Amino acid sequence: MNKIITIAIDGFSSTGKSTVAKHLAKELGYVYVDTGAMYRAVTLFAMQKGYISKDYFKKDQLVLDLKNIDLHFIFNQDIGFAEIHLNGVNVEKEIRTLEVSNFVSNIAAVSEIRKKLVEQQQIMGKNKGLVMDGRDIGTVVFPDAELKIFMTASPDERAHRRYNEMINKGDKVSYETVLKNVNDRDRIDTTRKDSPLVKASDAVELDNSDLTVEETFENVNKLALERIVNN
Ligand code: DC
Repeated sequence: MNKIITIAIDGFSSTGKSTVAKHLAKELGYVYVDTGAMYRAVTLFAMQKGYISKDYFKKDQLVLDLKNIDLHFIFNQDIGFAEIHLNGVNVEKEIRTLEVSNFVSNIAAVSEIRKKLVEQQQIMGKNKGLVMDGRDIGTVVFPDAELKIFMTASPDERAHRRYNEMINKGDKVSYETVLKNVNDRDRIDTTRKDSPLVKASDAVELDNSDLTVEETFENVNKLALERIVNN
């Protein structure tokens, strides 16, 4: 009999984690959870409340206000996956701007925020049967996950992917700005004190710099099927 497992997909930004995770969840009939969206939604909240800007970060005030942040994923039948709602409002679009991307790593470095979101993520995964992507899923959120993938790709390749994505959406950005954001986030995410981005010792590393989205998916799907059938 097939086993129901937990799949943790971690890695650098713009490595295609969420595309692969979404596809895999659909294929397996599992739930998909985008934890980056949760950190992004908290960032949007901080921006709306004036706790963070280019010039300051009122961290203590944000921490005091955390109890007023309600995050929920609600399944959207039309697109086939769940969208994040911040205090009852669908913010799926607003959280993908470069402005949010520029602040999110600072927000994600705050321990009180991580604690709140990790608790919520662990509750979402308590019955297994989910694919969760992020930075600390295999190391902190689900250290016992049956399959852990660590996705990498060169910064240049990742910046090109993100740049093309934004241009296609109609955003006006320069490649240099996007590359800077990728490099800045890599630095903050890998060097923060709490739960830095690091490959779990038992994770399978997958460098997809030279792979297509389909090839990346095939690799991950094969690993998932091995775990599900052999366990
Ligand atoms: O996957 P993403 O680019 O949407 O994530 C946005 C930011 O959130 C990323 O720069 C790091 C942070 N993050 C995190 O610290 N831990 C997670 N589990 C997911 C995201």
